[in-house]
Amino acid sequence: MSKTNRQLRLKSRPKGPVSRDNFELATQSIPELAEGQALARVRYLSIDPTMRIWMADIPQYMPPVAIGEVMRSFGLAEVVESRNPDFKRGDKLVGFTGLQEYTLIGGSEARSFQKVPSIPLVSDSAFLGVLGINGLTAYFGMTDIAKPQKGETLVVSAAAGATGSIAGQIGKIHGCRVVGIAGSVEKCSWLTEKLGFDAAINYKQPDWREKLAAATPQGIDIDFENVGGEIMHTVLSRMNLFGRVVVCGLISGYNKEDPGLASFATVIIKRLRVQGFLLVDYVPKFTDAATQLGKWKLFGKLKDRETIVNGLEKAPDAINMLFTGENIGKMLVEL
Ligand SMILES: NC(=O)c1ccc[n+]([C@@H]2O[C@H](COP(=O)([O-])OP(=O)(O)OC[C@H]3O[C@@H](n4cnc5c(N)ncnc54)[C@H](OP(=O)(O)O)[C@@H]3O)[C@@H](O)[C@H]2O)c1
Repeated sequence: MSKTNRQLRLKSRPKGPVSRDNFELATQSIPELAEGQALARVRYLSIDPTMRIWMADIPQYMPPVAIGEVMRSFGLAEVVESRNPDFKRGDKLVGFTGLQEYTLIGGSEARSFQKVPSIPLVSDSAFLGVLGINGLTAYFGMTDIAKPQKGETLVVSAAAGATGSIAGQIGKIHGCRVVGIAGSVEKCSWLTEKLGFDAAINYKQPDWREKLAAATPQGIDIDFENVGGEIMHTVLSRMNLFGRVVVCGLISGYNKEDPGLASFATVIIKRLRVQGFLLVDYVPKFTDAATQLGKWKLFGKLKDRETIVNGLEKAPDAINMLFTGENIGKMLVEL
């Protein structure tokens, strides 16, 4: 019997938060495999803030997803049939699966999928988070751009998220004083009690600016910026001379028509080094970085956490959870 594939196709572009109405749930039958193709069943979808950017028709680092196209996403899939000698049944792969239950791998797409090694005590889904996009992003942002020195003060925003939680722990590994900014008491407790952050500030409390000042008595040397807007403004105002601002993401603007621009005068006054970066620039260095992250994880120096919802239909809700802050650690959809 032929298999069917359910997929979420982009139906309209969101104005503000993502809605289920922005997607069409389509069903298609899966064709017989041609020579060189493999079919993989998607197990986990990686839910990333950049998906909100891909849905918008604005200049960006990849083409926006076209209306009618399967929504782009990263994911982990298991090969169920193969006519490609490079992939065998049971192989687990990470790559651009799209928001769908099955992904057809063949031709040039095959190159974008990486096999996931089987490592004792490491879950497959870790290759989408701490050992995947988020761990690698935190690793390169910290080691290549921030270059943390022992005793420096690092502030991380969206600190209890998939990327921020790893960036902060890498700061601890390098001997920094690490202060996280996050949106709930539960998140702040996790950062200080489980991940070893020196302090965590709940930006939803009215006196958070005073608390940030108290937690950074020597000023701030590194801002690992995931949020932008008011949070970035406040962090920048406490930067030390010649500090480094690693612009990883600006999630507070992604749902807005006009994300606005922070005043950058501090950059001049404090002679800051501000650098944006994209993980895609570091592809040749992925293996070495993933090896280092894996060692830290195995030796208990990196802890991670996942927030998982079930079912393809929930993927739009899961994207929104990144913006309402309902995730702790990596946001995943399990299929
Ligand atoms: N440069 C790159 O190559 C690259 C790669 C991956 C990710 N990123 C960026 O890294 C950042 C984090 O991504 P992630 O995948 O790790 O997501 P995440 O941090 O796991 O989830 C997003 C978090 O952002 C916080 N947030 C959302 N809207 C906010 C707002 N208006 N103000 C303050 N906090 C807000 C929420 O936590 P709270 O409860 O704390 O509000 C939420 O949990 C994003 O900006 C993303 O675009 C960049």
